[in-house]
Amino acid sequence: MSDLSVNIAGLTFKNPVTTASGTFGYGEEFREFFDPGELGGIFVKAVTGKNRDGNAYPRMAETPSGMLNSVGLQNKGIDHFCREIYPKIKDFDTRVIVNVSGSTIEEYVEVAERINELENIPSIELNISCPNVKLGGMAFGTVPAMATEVTAAVRKVYKKVLMVKLSPNVTSITELAKAVADGGADAITLINTLLGMAIDAERRRPVLSTITGGLSGPAIKPVALRMVWQVHKAVNLPIVGLGGIMNATDAIEFILAGASVIQVGTANFIDPMVSVNIVRGIEDYMKRHNVGAITELVGALRTD
Ligand code: FUM
Repeated sequence: MSDLSVNIAGLTFKNPVTTASGTFGYGEEFREFFDPGELGGIFVKAVTGKNRDGNAYPRMAETPSGMLNSVGLQNKGIDHFCREIYPKIKDFDTRVIVNVSGSTIEEYVEVAERINELENIPSIELNISCPNVKLGGMAFGTVPAMATEVTAAVRKVYKKVLMVKLSPNVTSITELAKAVADGGADAITLINTLLGMAIDAERRRPVLSTITGGLSGPAIKPVALRMVWQVHKAVNLPIVGLGGIMNATDAIEFILAGASVIQVGTANFIDPMVSVNIVRGIEDYMKRHNVGAITELVGALRTD
């Protein structure tokens, strides 16, 4: 039997395959396809302090080997999450982790404090990397001092496993990773979307209402792999890796680069079964390569 279990800051996952925030709803929506308990975890849709309607349509665009989105953190706020969503997902037999977003440090702290009280949520993913909002989001995740400040403020009130999701839209990803490590992060999620745009030449207009949006999908995988590898070498924190993972081979590549856990994102929009198939594909890889425990592969990339 292959051992697929992994551990991040004391939190165990039955396998390294999880789903990325904003691509898998709250997990509930996928129950007609498979039991979420087959996954290592689910990173649920971003939660903010108050209701957000999100950006105007159109806010999605297909691009070569990728997808642009500018959803704008649409959600119904922390009260609604605690009252309506949490009771439905709290007994999933998998790790349920909440993506915490905000426009100000106070908002991040307020949401983190509320989530801290929810017994069956063992971890949050602090989202300082959303490229689609005017206030907060990526603004915190591209300036090291601000990244440290917001992480440290949340660290004071949040007592469980604190992951921080970073933006690739920076000159030095290791500088940002060190900044959130200094703020007290337990793990780093890499990468959120790359800022991009699409143009409708016939109309001579941008496709998205917000002009720019976040690029995800296979187009960004080489950038994501490079950043996971750089951070793995530079910072002594576990990494949750994502960016264009479409199959088990992609997942293994991220693990070899240094990710302990991986997230499947855009691929969920194409095939709702993809994440559970990736679990099976990883098992198959381990058998074929005689790997007893998945942890043997974390950061096992040979560069000599
Ligand atoms: O626009 C959005 O809701 C995207 C969020 C993110 O990339 O974190």
